[in-house]
Amino acid sequence: MIKAAIMGHGTVGSGVYEVFEMNAEKIARVVGEPVEVKYVLDLRDFSALPYGHKFVTDFAVIENDPEISVVAEVMGGVGAAYQFTKRCLEAGKSVCTSNKELVATHGEELLRIAEEHGVNYMFEASVGGGIPIIRPMLQCLAANEFNEICGILNGTTNYILTQMIHNGVRFEDALRQAQESGYAEKDPTADIEGHDACRKICILSDLAFGDKFDPDAVSCEGITKITLEDVANADKLGCVIKLLGRAVRCEDGTAYAYVAPHLIHKESPLAAVEDVFNAIMVDGNATGEVMFYGKGAGKLATASAVAADMLDSIEHADHRRRIMWGDGSKNLLRPIDSLQSAWYVRFKGASADAEAVLPVESVSEPVQGVVVVRTRKLSTNDMAKKASELAQKGQVLAAMRML
Ligand code: HSE
Repeated sequence: MIKAAIMGHGTVGSGVYEVFEMNAEKIARVVGEPVEVKYVLDLRDFSALPYGHKFVTDFAVIENDPEISVVAEVMGGVGAAYQFTKRCLEAGKSVCTSNKELVATHGEELLRIAEEHGVNYMFEASVGGGIPIIRPMLQCLAANEFNEICGILNGTTNYILTQMIHNGVRFEDALRQAQESGYAEKDPTADIEGHDACRKICILSDLAFGDKFDPDAVSCEGITKITLEDVANADKLGCVIKLLGRAVRCEDGTAYAYVAPHLIHKESPLAAVEDVFNAIMVDGNATGEVMFYGKGAGKLATASAVAADMLDSIEHADHRRRIMWGDGSKNLLRPIDSLQSAWYVRFKGASADAEAVLPVESVSEPVQGVVVVRTRKLSTNDMAKKASELAQKGQVLAAMRML
């Protein structure tokens, strides 16, 4: 009998317990023996649950129990979760997590500690919830150099944008709906400002390019400024607006990595990804483009990915999985200033002024003094300069990248 522990009994943690209960027979077949969740760590009182006797409030109980070989860290954050993960690994226990903030911030250190102690640190659930993406990148696509990763990495913002696009709901109302439906947190900042997607594109970049991409250094823009006017203008241009996390490899081995809303063509496979679903396109230099699609959040979908990592850790107890990236000293992140994009610009002013300042691909007829411009490609830096120049002649109401 394998003994496991779960740290955190929130949405994902309770889901992990449920998966082990619900699929106990299947799990025993996969691993070759039953797996019992011996402890659940949480400070709150869950004594009324049928498995209430398994709850502990003292982490040391898990740390000092030699029977526990694998632990799910589903607490979130980089405080106690970081300390407890380190101590579990140092105590010779594998740790599996959905905690993207911790993986993006301290992943390389935790992977090194895991290696030093001959155990596994696994994080399939940290990107895309129940969508397999980490393991495919590490294994199935391992023989590729990655040219690009581009994805809808956040379910909450994709739900909000879907409401804006299909039902004409304003951002603030769509956010409220998302909160009422349980998709968005009470404090939705990490989702709507793009930080959650940023952590995820950093993890995928770490894996793809082999060195740490620091979320604090990666350019990150959310969806709070998007209006129904932008949504309608995008539609007229044959596009929809999606929040994308993107990493693009350059010839010298450096890479752009960033999060920003984009206008993407309706024919793009990513345009059809709606509601809380996520999708990730990975472009390998041998495979070409490969797409991964599914539920990017949710209790059992995410829990299944954590539980599967736990089974993989058990199966690889003697021959640990080799996952590793550098500490960021290679400085692979290329400043976004030079990234070339076509731009959508909503400008209140004369179209002649827009045409004089911007490299215009197309410009609309003015509607109440507002013109919509599609530019040819220009760098982020040049676009910023042109936007300030244009602001002398009118009002730049929006500027967004196009793919
Ligand atoms: N808040 C995240 C999302 C949860 O909306 O995608 C999954 O990481």
